[in-house]
Amino acid sequence: MCGIVGYIGARDSQAVLLDGLSKLEYRGYDSAGIAVFTQDGLRVSKAKGRLAVLAEKLEDAPLKGSVGIGHTRWATHGKPSDENSHPHTDKTMKFSVVHNGIIENYMELKEELIAQGVHFVSETDTEVISHLIAREYDGDIVKAVQRATEHMRGAFALGVLTEHEPDKLVAVRFASPLIIGIGEGENFIGSDIPAILQYTRRVYILNDGEMAVLTKDAVELMTIEGNFISREMIVVDWDVLTAEKGGYDHFMLKEIHEQPKAYRDTMRGRINEDRSGVKFPELKGLTPAKLSSIRNVHIVACGTAYHAGLVGRTLIEQCVGIPVETDVASEYRYRSPIITKDTLVIVVSQSGETADTLAALREAQRNGAHVLAITNVVGSSVAREADDSIVTWAGPEIAVASTKAYTSQLIAFMLFSLYWAQSTGSKDTAWIGQQLAAMESLPEQVERILEQADVLKDVAEGMAKHDNMFFIGRGLDYAVALEGSLKLKEISYIHSEAYAAGELKHGTLALIEDGIPVIALTTQPTLVEKMVSNIKEVKARGGVVYAVTDETNVAGVEKAVDGTFVLPATLPMLTPALAVVPLQLISYYASLARGNDVDKPRNLAKSVTVE
Ligand code: G6P
Repeated sequence: MCGIVGYIGARDSQAVLLDGLSKLEYRGYDSAGIAVFTQDGLRVSKAKGRLAVLAEKLEDAPLKGSVGIGHTRWATHGKPSDENSHPHTDKTMKFSVVHNGIIENYMELKEELIAQGVHFVSETDTEVISHLIAREYDGDIVKAVQRATEHMRGAFALGVLTEHEPDKLVAVRFASPLIIGIGEGENFIGSDIPAILQYTRRVYILNDGEMAVLTKDAVELMTIEGNFISREMIVVDWDVLTAEKGGYDHFMLKEIHEQPKAYRDTMRGRINEDRSGVKFPELKGLTPAKLSSIRNVHIVACGTAYHAGLVGRTLIEQCVGIPVETDVASEYRYRSPIITKDTLVIVVSQSGETADTLAALREAQRNGAHVLAITNVVGSSVAREADDSIVTWAGPEIAVASTKAYTSQLIAFMLFSLYWAQSTGSKDTAWIGQQLAAMESLPEQVERILEQADVLKDVAEGMAKHDNMFFIGRGLDYAVALEGSLKLKEISYIHSEAYAAGELKHGTLALIEDGIPVIALTTQPTLVEKMVSNIKEVKARGGVVYAVTDETNVAGVEKAVDGTFVLPATLPMLTPALAVVPLQLISYYASLARGNDVDKPRNLAKSVTVE
C-alpha cells in the first residue's frame, strides 16, 4: 500500500510532489509527507490525515528546493500519526526515505540497530531502512542502498535522498510497484503513472530487484546487485484528463459514466467482423490444444474482482462445460486446492498488484497450473508473472470503489468464455454470434441506464435513511447482488448483506422487519417465478422491495414489489453487465446523501499490496 513520488529537476519540488501525491491518494490517505533539499539542508514536513492537512502546513512553512520525495500512507506498522508518517530519516537527518511495502524482518533489524545505539522515533518498519542506509553509507549512496537492501526481507519500493549527494535520487523496486518518469532536465519516480502524467508521458517500469539512480539530466537503471540494465521506454497514451475528474463531482461518478467506453475498448479488435468468433492473439500459451487439455478452472481474486470471478465461473461453466471454482485469494492457498498441470488458474486484479492475488498466482504456478491474468494494468506484477494475460481496457480507475474495472472484467470473462467455446467447439458459431451481437449492444444499453440516474438518486436517498439493507438474487443475479451490496457498504457505510434468495429463509429472514429496504435482482427468466416467491416471503415480514429487473422479466415481477428499475433486454448470460450499473448509482447517491467522502471511503485503499 502507500504511494510514493520523487522529483529531481529545476521546478519547485514541493508543488510537483503535492500534485503527484494528490493522484496517489487512492493508495492510502492516513498521512502524507515530503522531504526536500532546501538551502538549509534536507528538510521534512509531514502530517497525519489527508494530503490537504500537509498542503496547509506547507503553505505556512514551505520547503523550497528542486529535489524531493513524497509519500501518502496507508498504515500497516504503527497507527496513523505525525511520527509514523513518511519520509523517515536517520539520526543525523542527512538521509531520508519513502517506502511502499512491508519489511518483514524489521523487528530483527530494529533490535540489531538499537543494540548499535540507534534511537527510533516511530513505530514503523520503514524507519529501519533510513537507519540501515545511514549505517551502510561510506561516501556512495547507491552502494549504501544496495547494501541496506541485502538485509531487508519483504516488499519495498523506495525513494531515497541524502544530503551528502544532493544531485541524486535513488529508487528501488522489490515486490511493490515503481515507475520512472523521464523529462527534459528533470526526472521523476512514482508508484503509478497518474502521479507523473502531468509532466511526462515517457516512463520506465522497474521490475522486482531493480533500481534507478536519477539526476536531473539522466537516469541509470541497474539491478540491486549493481549490474547496469537497459529498458525500453514506454510512451503512455493516457491523456491528463483521463486521470482527472473530467467535470464530474467525483471520480466514481466519472468512472461509472465511462463504462460504455470501457466496454467498447475491452471488446475492440477482439470480435471478428462477421461475429463468427473472438480473437485473442495475445494468448500465446492458451492455444486451442492447451484449452482442450484443461480439466478444471480456479478463479482467484479479491474484493470486487472476486465478484467478477463469480460471474466468470457461471460463464465458463455454461459455455465450456468444465468445472470452475472461485476463491478469494487470501483463502485460496490455505485450503490446499487441487492444482494439476491441467488446471487453469485465472487471477483477476484491476491493479495487478494485490498481494494476496499475486501470492495465489505464484502458488498456482509452483503447482504446475497455467495462469491467465485478467488485469487493467499493463506491465503490472500480475500481468508480467502470469503465463498469459487479458488486459481490460478500462483506463485508470481512481475511486476506491471499483466500477468500470469490474464491468470490464465481466466483458473480458464473456469474451474469454466464448473464445474457449469456439476453440473447443463446445458451442456452435450461430450461438456464439448471437452472444457477440448482444454484447455489442451493451455499451449503448448502459448509456440508456445512465440516462435514468435521477430516478436512482431518489431511490438511493430513501434508502440512505436506513442502517440496514439486503440484496437478494439467484444464479448470476446472486453474484451481482454480492457486488451491489459490497459497493453500498464500502461507500455509504450502510450495513448490507447479499443473500442467495432461496437461502434467506434459512436464517437471515429473521432480520427482515418493517420498512427494511431489500433490492431484488430478477433478470434470469428461468428463475423469476422462484424469485417472486422469495420476494413475497420478504414482503410478508414488512420488507420494502425494489426490483432491478429487465424488459423480458418485468411483467412477472412488478406486481409483487414496491418499485422497479427496468433494464434493457439482453441475453441471460450478459445481464450482470447491465444489472450492476443501477446498483453502482444507488451506492453513489446513498453515499452522497449521507455526506461521505465517496472516492475515499474510510479505512479502505484502492490497491492492497499487503497480505
Ligand atoms: C481493494 C479495493 C477493491 C478491489 C480489491 C482488489 O480492496 O478497494 O476495490 O476490488 O482491492 O483489487 P485488485 O486491484 O486486485 O482488483
